[in-house]
Amino acid sequence: MAAESPQSFFSHLECPVCSQHYSGREPVNFCTCGRPLLARYDLASIKRYVRRSDFVPRRRDLWRYRELLPVLDAANIIYLGEGGTPLLSLRMLGRRLGLSHLYLKEEGCNPTGSFKARGLAMAVSKAKELGLRKLAIPTAGNAGSAMAAYAAAGGLEAYVFAPDDTPPIILQECMTLGAHVYLIKGLINDAGRVVQEGKAQHGWFDMSTRKEPYRLEVKKTMGIELAEDFDWRLPDVIIYPTGGGTGLNGMWKAFAELGALGWISDHRPRMVVVQAEGCAPIVKAFAEGATEAPLWPNAQTMASGLRVPKAFADFLILQAVYASEGMAIAVSDPEMAEAQRMLATTEGIFACPEGAATVAALRTLRQQGWIQAHERVVLFNTGSGLKYADLLHATPPYWAGSSQ
Ligand SMILES: Cc1ncc(COP(=O)(O)O)c(C=O)c1O
Ligand SMILES: [Zn+2]
Repeated sequence: MAAESPQSFFSHLECPVCSQHYSGREPVNFCTCGRPLLARYDLASIKRYVRRSDFVPRRRDLWRYRELLPVLDAANIIYLGEGGTPLLSLRMLGRRLGLSHLYLKEEGCNPTGSFKARGLAMAVSKAKELGLRKLAIPTAGNAGSAMAAYAAAGGLEAYVFAPDDTPPIILQECMTLGAHVYLIKGLINDAGRVVQEGKAQHGWFDMSTRKEPYRLEVKKTMGIELAEDFDWRLPDVIIYPTGGGTGLNGMWKAFAELGALGWISDHRPRMVVVQAEGCAPIVKAFAEGATEAPLWPNAQTMASGLRVPKAFADFLILQAVYASEGMAIAVSDPEMAEAQRMLATTEGIFACPEGAATVAALRTLRQQGWIQAHERVVLFNTGSGLKYADLLHATPPYWAGSSQ
């Protein structure tokens, strides 16, 4: 089914460090200075021709914000139902943690069961628009299966490079979706090196987080959806499980653009980065007041999406945290597992470990008094717990008819 097609106001790509411009009309990865590129829009024209209320009658998916997205021709949109995820009110858990306004954005409802579908819907659609055919991605898992799905639907080839201990269900998913899957002994940055070294020879386009400029763009839609859900008055705190940082930075960029359009006030949520104790480069950098985060050695955590020892856009993640007077906090794997059970049993939500990490972080931040009882807090469950079912060691179910 084709998506709706109002006009995109995408203008060009820009380097946030050296300000160099790129047209965005041909394929590009990152700036010649080595930094990630950001998409820019003709905000003056959006301000003139578009009203917030224009979105209301449109279908509830991420393409409803087409004016603020970079696909120029709607015919290139590959649509599998991405975005438009529910914002759930967590009343029971809120009561337990002493919060009267606690919410969860349920990204597990996306195609391929994670928020990565948003970024890859956009990046693969844009790749199609730019005439690319062979896409390669280093992945912790979820981005790989999302790319495999959109490449299949768009008739492009997908090459997926994942650590050999990526959850098996996700690897199976990638293969069933027709991707060429290669296992890497190492982590996502090692997979990234394989893509980097092979791309010239094999004709792959590198779809790595932040080395492909458009994945970030669509993570903005999580921020715009939140703004719309809260009647354009942003919440006080957003807690996000952060690896490469597209989710957090995408929302931060959305708020800047919505502010420039005059659609929201100056109030910004405090942005909280959550990482795993076994891989917490941003948390360490934040604690030291640093502006970049050096590579984290021997990264280990069951939350595979958080096993990113070096984020290409680390400086932008830290900028957002500092500018919002936010926080970066690490939680342990056992804390994630406990939080996963707590969210499941109190609210009926089976979160991925990354999503559960936000619950564990919230509990600590409440205990420390960093979050007040009246504040409006949004957690993100970035994926479905079903994709990680192999990791669980829950009590086995009883046999029917057993006397236990
Ligand atoms: C389920 C899940 N949550 C969170 C993340 C981290 O997202 P980001 O890399 O955008 O910071 C990932 C990344 O793979 C993921 O798969
Ligand atoms: Zn530059």
